[in-house]
This record gives sequence, structure tokens and C-alpha cells, in this order.
Amino acid sequence: MTRLYVYDETDPAALLVDTEDGGSIAHELNAIGVRFERWEASAPLLAEADQEAVIAAYQTEIDRLKAECGYRAVDVVRMQPDHPQREAFREKFLDEHTHSEDEVRFFVEGSGAFYLRKAGRVFKVVCTKDDLISVPAGTTHWFDMGPAPRFTAIRLFENSDGWIAKFTGDTIARRFPLYAG
Ligand code: LAC
Ligand code: NI
Repeated sequence: MTRLYVYDETDPAALLVDTEDGGSIAHELNAIGVRFERWEASAPLLAEADQEAVIAAYQTEIDRLKAECGYRAVDVVRMQPDHPQREAFREKFLDEHTHSEDEVRFFVEGSGAFYLRKAGRVFKVVCTKDDLISVPAGTTHWFDMGPAPRFTAIRLFENSDGWIAKFTGDTIARRFPLYAG
């Protein structure tokens, strides 16, 4: 279930918001400049759908966002609980970082948790099927796919070649609850 938790950044025990209401989640995130939307597939997707079929199912929304935000590249990432490198991939984004462009992810299936630090608060967003989140360029964040990661996500980029994480060196991520999956 999609869920938003908001904490005071200095106190992981101080839960300020906890909601599963899509409208409230979008409202809270929009207030800090983060886009959050629910998308619907134009046709049912088969479990074994390949990259092209996944993109085709959401083509209308993808094109709208590309036109609106200037994204030029689209791809699909898939993670399975038996992936031999799941621990390494999990670790990779588990520390606070930023990017020089927006981080745009649409969850086709499965789930993952984004943690955004903004305005003295930490926003933990558990994204599931049909959730679109766009973390603006420069926003401090981390991502936890959990110990048995499973998700398929569409990614939109201005320039996928330049996709690097700039780590802040802050250990804040280790003080907040991990995503159990
Ligand atoms: C990334 C995420 C997972 O940078 O934060 O791709
Ligand atoms: Ni990132």
C-alpha cells in the first residue's frame, strides 16, 4: 500500500504524518515541490511484459510528462528478490545523495521507499503500483528497495548518460527506519 510518513529530521521517533490517502500524500509532497501522481495503464499488462510493452501501456502519461518537463530518455528497471546483486544495489542508494536532474520513477509493479529530506523534515514515501514520483534536481534523498526487492519502474531522464549520485556524506539515512518491503 502506498504510504507517506513524515518525520522531524532531528528525531526519527517523532512521526508527524502517517497517511495512506492518495490525495493527502500528493498534497503533502506538492507542498515541498515534489510531483506525485497515480497513473492508469491504457491496457492490462502481462507479468512478462518487456520494456517496450511496459512503456507502451503508459505512453500517454509519459508523453505528457516529457512535454511538460523536458525529459528526453525513458527506460525500464526491474528488480527481483533473487537478484544476485540485490544487496549491492540496495546499498548503492541507501545513503543520502542528490542528482543534477530530477529523479522520475513510475512504479509498474512492486514497491520501494523514497526518503526526501526537505524543510527540516524527512518524507518517507512508500511507492507501489501506479505511483509516479519526481524528486526535483538537488533534493537530498535516499532510496530503500528493502531486503527482498521487487519492482518494475519506468524512469524518465533529461540525460540518462549523466545519471550519477552526489553523496552528501551525512549519515542521516542510517538513523531512520529502513524499508522492510
Ligand atoms: C537513484 C535512486 C534510487 O538515484 O535514488 O536511482
Ligand atoms: Ni537518487
